[in-house]
Amino acid sequence: MQLDLQQISKTYSNGTRALSELSLSIGTGMFGLLGPNGAGKSTLMRTIATLQQPDTGSMRFGDVDLLNDPMTLRKTLGYLPQEFGVYPRISAERLLDYLASLKGISAKKERRNIINYCLEVTNLTDVRHTSVSSYSGGMKQRFGIAQLLLNNPKLIIVDEPTAGLDPTERQRFLNILRAISTESIVIFSTHIVEDIKDLCTDMAVLNQGQLLLHTTPEAAIENLEGKIWTTNISATELPDYQRRYTVLSSAYNRDNSLRIRVLTDIGMPEFRVVSPTLEDVYFAALQRSLTLPLQASR
Ligand SMILES: Nc1ncnc2c1ncn2[C@@H]1O[C@H](COP(=O)(O)OP(=O)(O)OP(=O)(O)O)[C@@H](O)[C@H]1O
Ligand SMILES: [Mg+2]
Repeated sequence: MQLDLQQISKTYSNGTRALSELSLSIGTGMFGLLGPNGAGKSTLMRTIATLQQPDTGSMRFGDVDLLNDPMTLRKTLGYLPQEFGVYPRISAERLLDYLASLKGISAKKERRNIINYCLEVTNLTDVRHTSVSSYSGGMKQRFGIAQLLLNNPKLIIVDEPTAGLDPTERQRFLNILRAISTESIVIFSTHIVEDIKDLCTDMAVLNQGQLLLHTTPEAAIENLEGKIWTTNISATELPDYQRRYTVLSSAYNRDNSLRIRVLTDIGMPEFRVVSPTLEDVYFAALQRSLTLPLQASR
């Protein structure tokens, strides 16, 4: 199955252009959508989930036209919004049972089987009798995945699911996504570059409603091979270096000097070439979007 977006644009009533002629094709596997605050990630995800309409453009999932036939899409969609709201004070198992009934799974035995499966996949079997409202942040996020798996979705959209999770929970959560992405399209957004690195088969960088990059993490990194240079400077020199070079990032050393990473084909003698990282890819894409006229970045 493939998701195809063509020329999607969205301007909110207050004049904010959140999506700008965005075209994108996504196949089975893990797709990471990376972008800073306000990039348009949630807008794009709500649009794909058919919860809001674009002003222009078209969207297809396999044979289904999302704009003309949103109900068909919703039957095969699992969506976890950025803010899930308040959970009721009933056990995970009972809440899933209720949600499964809402989703039209009326046979009791079928409900039981699917609920057991959802709890198992998300490592919540042991706490299935515990009230969801008392779950930790990480457990709530896993419950969010459990509930969206109830209808066996083929298109799964999760909006910044790892925000606020501790490293162990984050890893556990990402492993769950990895497990369910073997048979479906999983689109997840994040501004944590690390989330994408080992996990995603495909990725895109979004900013100001425009796609700056759509590639695989490996290809993106390889593309910067030999072009990332580093040197130590004093903090007061930074503006000067930023004027002369594309400085992607800077970090303080213990002695309060700055270690900068620079994108350039040929470094200065004081520069040392280093292996590119996905973070370099991300910052390079964002920097390009600042220096190019908006339309030229796509
Ligand atoms: N309902 C709305 N009405 C008006 N403007 C909105 C609305 N929702 C989002 N925006 C604006 O559209 C732009 C994109 O917002 P969006 O929430 O899609 O970004 P995001 O990438 O999800 O950001 P974050 O990482 O902070 O969640 C922002 O400038 C935002 O202020
Ligand atoms: Mg968002």
